[in-house]
Amino acid sequence: MTSGGAQAGEVWTIVVAAGSGSRFGADKLAVALDGDRTVLDVSLDTALSASRGVVLVVRANDPMLYGVPVDPLRIVAGGDTRSASVRNGLAAVPDTADFVLVHDAARPGADAALYDRVIEALSQGAQAVVPAVPVVDTIRSTDGSQVDRNQLRAVQTPQGFDAAALRTAHAAGADATDDASLVEAAGAQVVLVAGDVRNLKVTHPGDVEVLRSLLYPHSS
Ligand code: CTP
Ligand code: MG
Repeated sequence: MTSGGAQAGEVWTIVVAAGSGSRFGADKLAVALDGDRTVLDVSLDTALSASRGVVLVVRANDPMLYGVPVDPLRIVAGGDTRSASVRNGLAAVPDTADFVLVHDAARPGADAALYDRVIEALSQGAQAVVPAVPVVDTIRSTDGSQVDRNQLRAVQTPQGFDAAALRTAHAAGADATDDASLVEAAGAQVVLVAGDVRNLKVTHPGDVEVLRSLLYPHSS
């Protein structure tokens, strides 16, 4: 049984972990977050408990590629761009999957409740589901004019898709910063669900401290 109580279909999650961490300046996914558990461990554990199976996408030289595969975790090599990494992951998702979620390994704060919200919307028939949070900063456009932040949402992962819609969207080999953009360009409507302010992406070194205090406030 997975945590997605209402789910009617088989859920697989692609966890993309094949980036170079250039803004972080080191392997950000290997940083310890909760005791010995790394950013990658935390992201992977939640994905595994919310899904029938997980495809983990790692860099082409990662020793994890040569381990013995343990279903339901499949490990494949990524590509030069995030979209290429997702495509490689998608090729390893079995045809039995009804819903495919795509999650950045760099977002360890995505919890089971967030996965449930995404899966629930898919179960209700959505083709593309994006968790999003209100923008807290006051925003201006580059020409200096004000932008109404109430009209804006910041987009997170895991994003969820009808499996066929995601496969169609990625078939052309296009590149985008997220998957919902590709699925939308292929004609699907994007449904927003509530994201989580703790679901930050580790991008710069200081982000790890912020995440530790948000996710594990009682650890020393
Ligand atoms: N990612 C990936 N394959 C790529 C690029 C990114 O699997 N070719 C993954 C990263 O590992 C990360 C997620 O996509 O989990 C979001 O990317 P980002 O936060 O930009 O991570 P990096 O690309 O590693 O960092 P940077 O852009 O600073 O180099
Ligand atoms: Mg990147």
